[in-house]
Amino acid sequence: MKLNEYEIRHIEKLRKLAPECMVLLKSDKSFPLETAGPVALYGNGARRTIKGGTGSGDVNVRHFTTVEEGLINAGFTITTQGWLDKYGEVWEQAHKEFKQAIRSKIEAEGLSAIMLGIGAVMAEPEYEIVPEGEGDTAIYVLARVSGEGSDRQPITGDFQLSKTEIRDILQLEKQYKRFMLVLNVGGVVDLTPVAGQVSNILLLSQLGMTTGDSFADVLLGKSYPSGKLASTWAAWEDYSQIGDFGGQDDTRYQEGIYVGYRYFDTVGKNPIFPFGYGLGYTDFDIIREGFSLRGTQVTVTAKVKNTGAFCGKEAVQMYVSIPSGKLDQPYQILAAFEKTKELEINEEQTLQLSFNMESIASYDEETAGLILEPGKYVLRLGNSSRNTKAIGIIQLEEVIEVQKLSHVGGTPDFSDWKPEAMAGEERSEDVPVVRLSKSDFNPQKQEMPFIDPEAVRIAEGLTDSELAYLCTGGFKDEGSSSVIGNAGMTVSGAAGETTSLFLEKGIPVLVMADGPAGLRLSRKYGVDEQGVYSLDEDAFASLYEMLPQEMITYLNLDGKNGQERNGTVYEQYCTAIPIGTALAQSFNPQICQECGDIVGDEMERFGVHLWLAPALNIHRSPLCGRNFEYYSEDPLISGKMAAGITTGTQMHPGCGVTIKHFVCNNQETNRFHSNSVVSERALRDIYMKGFEIAIKEAGPYAVMSSYNLLNGEHTSQRYDLMETVLRTEWGYEGIVMSDWVSGSFAGTSDTVKYPGACASGSIQAGNDIMMPGGKIHHEDLMSSLQDAGKEYPITRANLEKCAARMISMALKLNRDRE
Ligand code: BGC
Repeated sequence: MKLNEYEIRHIEKLRKLAPECMVLLKSDKSFPLETAGPVALYGNGARRTIKGGTGSGDVNVRHFTTVEEGLINAGFTITTQGWLDKYGEVWEQAHKEFKQAIRSKIEAEGLSAIMLGIGAVMAEPEYEIVPEGEGDTAIYVLARVSGEGSDRQPITGDFQLSKTEIRDILQLEKQYKRFMLVLNVGGVVDLTPVAGQVSNILLLSQLGMTTGDSFADVLLGKSYPSGKLASTWAAWEDYSQIGDFGGQDDTRYQEGIYVGYRYFDTVGKNPIFPFGYGLGYTDFDIIREGFSLRGTQVTVTAKVKNTGAFCGKEAVQMYVSIPSGKLDQPYQILAAFEKTKELEINEEQTLQLSFNMESIASYDEETAGLILEPGKYVLRLGNSSRNTKAIGIIQLEEVIEVQKLSHVGGTPDFSDWKPEAMAGEERSEDVPVVRLSKSDFNPQKQEMPFIDPEAVRIAEGLTDSELAYLCTGGFKDEGSSSVIGNAGMTVSGAAGETTSLFLEKGIPVLVMADGPAGLRLSRKYGVDEQGVYSLDEDAFASLYEMLPQEMITYLNLDGKNGQERNGTVYEQYCTAIPIGTALAQSFNPQICQECGDIVGDEMERFGVHLWLAPALNIHRSPLCGRNFEYYSEDPLISGKMAAGITTGTQMHPGCGVTIKHFVCNNQETNRFHSNSVVSERALRDIYMKGFEIAIKEAGPYAVMSSYNLLNGEHTSQRYDLMETVLRTEWGYEGIVMSDWVSGSFAGTSDTVKYPGACASGSIQAGNDIMMPGGKIHHEDLMSSLQDAGKEYPITRANLEKCAARMISMALKLNRDRE
């Protein structure tokens, strides 16, 4: 296998940074190992290692290293080939039955069940294979996969461990001198049956291309884990059951702002491993040096000292307990975090953790203002949400309205849950107090976003129909061809592109390709007189296997992938980076920036303008099938990581990111028609916050609206989200695109409570383009123009505004790359 020079460079970089995303959950210090010797390797992820989840977030790679390969590459001798072979047979048989069951379901239920096939996950089978590998060291790799189109289930073999897994893990802990449980998972599994008894647990996560090699580096101490949990790991029954999850039509977010650790810490439930937690091979002391206030900026200075016997990095976290008043407050929220550089034994580093008081203000639904209420704001410094020390208090004497906002997002038919005991009682911590008053705050300015006047002029000179074409993706007139992420015409395997009808008028095309775990393209493609065609043999193999033949023919997925054509063949191998959740675990936006740099380089190389990533929906429930793509249960972590990857990608000329899915896309069940019922406070303080941080800090060029509805209206059809929040309140200057197939395939079903989004509704609201495009959208726009009788009548001004923004972005990204 001969790699290109850029591939080698990207893989080397990845291999070095990946360990920052691993979280060491338990350690008795019997690892790292001194040398590579015999090792007994078990578990479903040992050979069938998962590099990332399934669906549009799956990156087509040349090769990635499994755990087994990584260990062999590093010189280990695997003493359990027999066990691994036998497990392989068990898995094959179980998988065959699983696929057959899905096939039958699709045959019975028809086309819409295709989405079920994409993300459905096989629960781990039960089996008896005696674990008898030689040596005194054993590794058990427990894997779980999930993906787009289906949510996870709280059942054995999925969210819960299977009986076989529990039995074998507990047995190995006793049987071997040194034993490590390695979690090759994209999200939480309930570790209750084993967490107390296993001495060494590593959350390896799913790290893309170098998963196995990076693991071997850590096992041998050539590198070390330094990640922290970006979401709470708890027993299934301890997660909040206040709101509902996975509802077919309506999903009520009744828990309000009490998501993740905000819930656990407030009600005093103990998770198995708390938010922010993670060990290293070494130990650290965190010494508070003081805190200061300049204007409204709080800065805490902390000295971190490596007191252990190994080098390492520590992520220091500052939480704030906000006083309750008119508004209830969780016990604490994360306000800032910083990670050290690599510290040698005994080395120290001074870190400064800063945040503005405005950034922790809460939304008051009564006044539509962002407010800080009077009382004591307790600053807590530590290295997990459950290991902090109060270090100071900011005292506020009066209510400050930090910013006046507008009411957006609609209203649910319930009031959010509130904890019985408020965290607002006087806080008696014996720490220094600093007072803050109204005069320290400056009013926040709102600046209207800029649109390129040249683009406005071009739009003004186009016909209505031409404008409508610019507001729907680059479809061929027969209709939309995309099933999922595969409507590229100029770049093979790209998810879509804008229209090429107006190249002669000087409006270039924008090419969009998926993520977030790297750039999703066809590995090989051909070009002949009919154009570009994919030669990716197995990119959709697992999907084909499940589909009945009539459906393959109907969808024009002949499975041959152009093998019969004779054009010139090209390659475009891309690098799979760690999944979003793993990147967040680095607690280091710089790591995200470096991954963005890898992706940006490949976008330039293969002619992609907009990457359909990062994805920063909140981990509201640990069951969401796409949580692996998303960062965290915490909006600050989500926003900072998204900002990091945005900066890294957009450093490359002509490359932009698309932050998605705006907003409240927190489940996969019935994803095109699911209505998220959310209070305005939760919407603003939890679900939109990460998007706001990313937009204000890093200026992404595109936003993707979500499939779901928000309080009864599709997000792409909400003027209050598209224009009031994004453009007016946040000053966002990029484009907004719909998520894929919404309004065409998605809109055709009449068996659902809520119809799919449509082009006229979306353009009227300021969602600039329907992707991947389709004749149905163009027709809808043309027939809704000036027709007040339509459900969503639009004007030429609506079209001109959206088209001008599309033209502006097409000109910018194409010119930047020249
Ligand atoms: C997903 C998006 C993705 C798009 C294009 C949709 O099904 O929800 O995240 O970017 O497809 O493939």
